[in-house]
Amino acid sequence: MPHSDVLIIGSGIAALAAADQLCETMSVRILTKGSFFDGNSYLAQGGVAAVLSTEDTWDSHCKDTMEAGAFQNDPKAVKQLVENGTDAIMTLISNGMAFDHNASGSLALGREGAHSYNRIAHAGGDATGKALLQFLLKKLQDKVAFAQHTMAIDLLMHENRCTGAAARNKAGETVSYTASHTIIAAGGCGALYEHTSNHPFLTGDGLALAYRAGAELGDLEFVQFHPTMLLKNGSAAGLISEAVRGEGAFLQNELGERFMQHVHPLADLAPRDIVAREIFRQNKNGQKVFLNTLPVKNFEQRFPTITALCRKHGINPVESLIPVVPGMHFFMGGIMTDLHGRTSVENLYAAGESACTGVHGANRLASNSLLEGLVFGKKLGEYIQSKPAAFSSQAPFLKQSVHQVPHFPDKKEIQAVMTAYLGIQRTEAELSRASEWFSAYQHIISDYPYYVKNCTNEQSEIANMLTIGSLITKSALARKESRGGHYRLDYPEALDSWQGKQLIHSIAGTKIKVGKTGVA
Ligand code: SIN
Repeated sequence: MPHSDVLIIGSGIAALAAADQLCETMSVRILTKGSFFDGNSYLAQGGVAAVLSTEDTWDSHCKDTMEAGAFQNDPKAVKQLVENGTDAIMTLISNGMAFDHNASGSLALGREGAHSYNRIAHAGGDATGKALLQFLLKKLQDKVAFAQHTMAIDLLMHENRCTGAAARNKAGETVSYTASHTIIAAGGCGALYEHTSNHPFLTGDGLALAYRAGAELGDLEFVQFHPTMLLKNGSAAGLISEAVRGEGAFLQNELGERFMQHVHPLADLAPRDIVAREIFRQNKNGQKVFLNTLPVKNFEQRFPTITALCRKHGINPVESLIPVVPGMHFFMGGIMTDLHGRTSVENLYAAGESACTGVHGANRLASNSLLEGLVFGKKLGEYIQSKPAAFSSQAPFLKQSVHQVPHFPDKKEIQAVMTAYLGIQRTEAELSRASEWFSAYQHIISDYPYYVKNCTNEQSEIANMLTIGSLITKSALARKESRGGHYRLDYPEALDSWQGKQLIHSIAGTKIKVGKTGVA
């Protein structure tokens, strides 16, 4: 049975930042479902937000983060993010990470929605995630054991403590990986929706693993829809970064109206939920929406990835309007953790998009996610280093296969339900329909651990999608107000009575946690 001090499930920025901190003093193994590059970090275009200029301040970055998050954020988590953010970037730079610079030699800092200052450090123009991943992988290649194409299928538990994970390797064999400490850094769940900027592997696996092991999940109703995916043949074909609007591009409808100017003082750079909702409304009213990039200088040099994406789909982004549609982009909810990254299950931790630290509140501020991965991944590594090894030599427990694998719905059916009923706008009637649909598959959600060994990776993904989709539905039905990434057409206002309250789910049931002050 392969054993390591620390087992990390996922290989994005949060996973690598934790591994980077841990690998000098502890043995670390990383399991990842696909290759290193099959994930959201690799796709991240915009950059990393941090206070890096003399006119900017930590207070301002905290305030912008809280405002975008509709004051659902945990102020302590926001402070930890922002105040460690500057150092995280400066350390990367001093270690040789090549962020983009201006002709004058200073760090090039971009602007994105709801930021008060230019504070987005980027690399390769619009390929920041890829550059960061490559940089960290190179640093870690001889220090960490990596298992690619290895899908974690269930956590190993002994006396209510996590002792590692069972995983299915490329050959389809189940292997138990034991560990003193297990970190879930497997991203969110964008693939639950039809239109998404996420990699198709993002089926909520890490979230569902933790839930089945008894961990608490929270803030699941808060789903961020990015306003601008490239629209091609009725589908989202990839992300058009908000940084494009930061460089002067604007949205217009078929009539040529710059509609965002009438919606929010920040117009095209308003918080994402507001821009996405307005595009959705324009589409509902029969208007197609486009991004006009004419004001952007040196578009092709600044945005090489987006230029290639547009050209691949037959659009010249410099001369033509780019057709856009909103799509699922980021999951603010996740596995509940404290500021170290500890979950409610002993020896189980979470970081990055899988975690709900409270840092993003109801809506994440642009380019705060790579930053979260860097800062919270490192903090978690530091915490685990301070703990003695805690492994029990008892055989870890994976439930036995006693059930037949039942009929599974298709992924597309789940995506259709999530998109129709749990999208940008929600109502009681539609959410109830989703709830009924998911309840027909409750047997898969509850019994999956008993036949997991006999499933294919696709069936495991579907079981995870059903688990997380049904929990998002429960949360969205319960939260009878609108806030950030949760918009109820039938309760369109944010209510004081819901301020600072979190809906928390675990296999033991659902509860409401009160305690956020909502003040930075
Ligand atoms: C974007 O580039 O628009 C996305 C960046 C982010 O979600 O932080």
